[in-house]
Amino acid sequence: MHESVLMREVVDLLVVKQGGTYIDGTLGNGGHTRAIIERAGAKSFVMALDRDELALERAGKVLDVFRNQVCLVHGNFSEMAEVARSKGINTVDGVLLDLGVSSEQLDEGCRGFSFMRDGPLDMRMDQQGNDMTAADLVNGLGENELCEILIEFGEEKMARRVVKAIAREREIEPIRTTGRLAGIVERAMGGRRGRVHPATKTFQALRIKVNDELGSLKKGLEGGLSLLGMEGRMAVISFHSLEDRIVKRFFAGHSGKWESLQGGGAEWVGEKPRMQICTKKPIEASIAEMDRNPRARSAKLRVAEKSEMM
Ligand SMILES: C[S@@+](CC[C@H](N)C(=O)[O-])C[C@H]1O[C@@H](n2cnc3c(N)ncnc32)[C@H](O)[C@@H]1O
Repeated sequence: MHESVLMREVVDLLVVKQGGTYIDGTLGNGGHTRAIIERAGAKSFVMALDRDELALERAGKVLDVFRNQVCLVHGNFSEMAEVARSKGINTVDGVLLDLGVSSEQLDEGCRGFSFMRDGPLDMRMDQQGNDMTAADLVNGLGENELCEILIEFGEEKMARRVVKAIAREREIEPIRTTGRLAGIVERAMGGRRGRVHPATKTFQALRIKVNDELGSLKKGLEGGLSLLGMEGRMAVISFHSLEDRIVKRFFAGHSGKWESLQGGGAEWVGEKPRMQICTKKPIEASIAEMDRNPRARSAKLRVAEKSEMM
């Protein structure tokens, strides 16, 4: 069962208005949505999105007791602003993004996200709206293109070696399962060393590409900011450096900063600030939470507040 990460921290920093309206862009199992409603009270409302229809089904059951306070939407959070406005929601008090995949998605071998469970090489979060699977990339792309994906989205240092092995194997027979791909990568990298599986970065890269995760994140941040009312907050939990860098730059780019001048004094650098950063350093999980929930080990929470209307 997916355990929501940084639950107390998210609620403490995000829910600053009783009876407010919030958006949870990554519903998952509904743990954060539920906690937001519980904190924000009986008059609050949450519009929650997920690309994965199975997640909506699961969370719908968990959130049934709050059915008058939630609106669950099957969709990409990159479109949250359009979706919210189409439902008459023009301003919100908070936006949450808890990125990546849930434990359920990882554990269901048939979804193809995990090198730990054999299944079809799929990796689509949205199996209705997205046609391209990881198998299409692995079997269909040229070696250079595949290599670029592993470098850009997996920061895989041995990308060339991994891609050569994939190219050899797919000549024999197309690579259709997570188990076969994991084995190919593991052998290409000389077997297992340490705790981290050698295919971790390859799988991360393919998943990010299949779901255009970084493109969605950039659009979602813009959409969220456009919906926030004054003093509304945006909280983002990321799980790897590529995501965290985008969030950090987005917040910094909208908050500007004072820079000291050589001759004394300081000047404002950047745009007119529209956000104030609430977390100078990203918040990480406590040791107790990391022990309980290994997913929390790489979680980083950043929060910023809207300080100027556009
Ligand atoms: C880490 S889980 C969220 C867990 C949730 N916060 C909870 O408490 O149960 C991430 C969820 O976000 C969904 N997701 C990821 N990217 C998305 C996107 N661009 N748009 C909508 N949903 C997305 C995934 O399908 C997954 O269900």
